[in-house]
Amino acid sequence: MLQCANISLSLGNQAVLDDISIIINPADRIGLVGPNGAGKSTLLKVIMGLQEVDKGSVSTGKTESLGYLPQDGVEPNFSLNVVDEVESIFQPIFDLEKNVQHIQNKLGDIDPHSASYNDYLDQLGSLQTELEQSGIYSIRSKVEKVLTGLGFNSKDFSRTTSEFSGGWLMRMALAKLLLQDPTYLLLDEPTNHLDIESLQWLEQFLAQYEGAVIVVSHDQYFLDSLTNRTLAIRQGKLQDYAGNYSFYERKWDEERELLINTKRNQEKQIKDTQEFIDRFRYKATKARQVQSRVKQLQKLKHIEVESELDSVSFSFPTPERTGQIVVKLDQVVKRYKDLTVFDGIDLEIEREDKIAIVGPNGAGKSTLIRIMSGLEPIQSGIQILGHKVQHAYFAQHQADELDETEDPLGIMMRAGSGEKESRLRSILGSFLFTGDDVFKKVKVLSGGEKSRLALAKMLLSPANFLIFDEPTNHLDISSKAVLQQALQQYEGTCMIVSHDRSFLDPIVNKVLEIRPGSIRLFLGNVSYYLDKKKEEAELISSAHERNEESTKRDPSGTDNLSKKEKKRQEAERRNALSKRLRPLKKKINQLEAAIEDTENSLSSLEATMAEVDFYEDPIQVKETSIEYEKIKKELTKLMFQWEEYQERYEQIEAEFES
Ligand SMILES: Nc1ncnc2c1ncn2[C@@H]1O[C@H](COP(=O)(O)OP(=O)(O)OP(=O)(O)O)[C@@H](O)[C@H]1O
Ligand SMILES: [Mg+2]
Repeated sequence: MLQCANISLSLGNQAVLDDISIIINPADRIGLVGPNGAGKSTLLKVIMGLQEVDKGSVSTGKTESLGYLPQDGVEPNFSLNVVDEVESIFQPIFDLEKNVQHIQNKLGDIDPHSASYNDYLDQLGSLQTELEQSGIYSIRSKVEKVLTGLGFNSKDFSRTTSEFSGGWLMRMALAKLLLQDPTYLLLDEPTNHLDIESLQWLEQFLAQYEGAVIVVSHDQYFLDSLTNRTLAIRQGKLQDYAGNYSFYERKWDEERELLINTKRNQEKQIKDTQEFIDRFRYKATKARQVQSRVKQLQKLKHIEVESELDSVSFSFPTPERTGQIVVKLDQVVKRYKDLTVFDGIDLEIEREDKIAIVGPNGAGKSTLIRIMSGLEPIQSGIQILGHKVQHAYFAQHQADELDETEDPLGIMMRAGSGEKESRLRSILGSFLFTGDDVFKKVKVLSGGEKSRLALAKMLLSPANFLIFDEPTNHLDISSKAVLQQALQQYEGTCMIVSHDRSFLDPIVNKVLEIRPGSIRLFLGNVSYYLDKKKEEAELISSAHERNEESTKRDPSGTDNLSKKEKKRQEAERRNALSKRLRPLKKKINQLEAAIEDTENSLSSLEATMAEVDFYEDPIQVKETSIEYEKIKKELTKLMFQWEEYQERYEQIEAEFES
């Protein structure tokens, strides 16, 4: 059992943890959630003993162990290769093996009849048993399995760790941690560094993990599928919910609503009592009642409703117009030592393009945009920047790019925009750096706060070509939504590397796919791209099947089947078709029903909003309009899905006819 008892901690002038107590059991699957800067990472550090507290204590069972993946900044041994680095956690077992060998050598050297020979023999026996039980013989295969799951390929195993980028170093650290198999596994935003496939692998791994898992993440889907308990930190307090993220969100909304209602009733009661007091204050006959009501008011404990936490609010300034071509790459070659990332690629980016860059990890996404940002020299080929193009770059690992010793205000002042301090402070304010926050050192900022600072800095440059590498990492759910909206409205050109399909879809008009050795541009959003890829894969596999079928059926190439046989084949084909279409039809029907329901809810809300006295109650107005927007969004999503399925359905039918 892991126990935190009455933990309080203030950092700067903020009470980050305020009298927090929790008990964690060895089989728990916990999501630790809360807005950026709420104190999630801090709590994990406290549990690990890496952060001192003002008050309170942490304890674990005697035989229990803790393992921790920090949000940022892990350092491996840079002189080792990947496998050796990961295997270094098994050093005690390797030492044991050496010891056994050492004794074996000794035995060869001494007289078998001597007394010490027997001693060594005994020692060897027990060490050998220990070695066998240590699982030494399966270490390599376990290590390779975990590394492969986390996206390393076998060629990477023998490369030195110093050749890898920050994201990959985090994966190595994660691999080590998973192999260590601690009783309590503490993971601070592990999903930031993973692509979709590795993420799925990790999900499965954690689902089967024997110990407790405590994970910080802003990825709702990941949390929902993994966790069965949610700890939410808000304004220093910790709330415990017996369910996954969606459960927590629902409960939290209900609790808030209930509290708002109770507060409303209380306010009315206060108002009535006050009126009574005011009215009868000078009436001797009512003196006693007035007195008792005054006391009543004094004793009353006012209900506080926590205000909806502020969220980031900004939009990108209207940029200066560029020429039609923003960037042109012509036969660009990029190499890192003997690794060729691009071997002669061509690319043209046009004004107002909004391009998603997708592809497996390590294919060169970050390299490409670093080339575009002028940060990465190329070995040959031509890179031309268009007329009046000015770029701004948002790096994947903010911690590496922002000066750790500066504070937010300093960073903004030194960005060279020439803006006055008051203006800089107001920009910082819209990214939630208020009051003394502007003097916090970058070093102590939370992951999300650093990302917000980097965004704030981008607003200062008059850039008309924005380049983002994983901008949504670290951002909490509401900040992500604001960034999405700002990019949708942005009038310049932008490129975004991200794995987050729902973030990208409403923004981009093109998708650039980077695979090892090749790039390819698709004229649509990410859903379109994924459909297109699926379609291509199916075409290839059905062409394959057809080829096989025809050679099997008629190796000579001439088709002389009997009529009956042809009929039978036709029937088989129809049967196969309806089998393929059935699940699609089912989904389409479900979506149609959901669309109808949603449309009904919308019209009933519209009716409420059309009532004459509707606008008299501001709380109701706010709640209803939030609800309305939510349902409208849901409807758009459903329609979009319906279209996708419908299109797919028609396509398959058409393929069959042809
Ligand atoms: N040494 C310090 N001095 C002052 N403030 C600090 C210090 N260390 C952390 N903080 C502040 O404490 C708050 C909590 O930080 P923490 O890193 O725990 O947040 P978080 O919940 O992990 O956020 P994120 O989702 O962005 O990772 C932040 O506002 C951070 O700036
Ligand atoms: Mg954090």
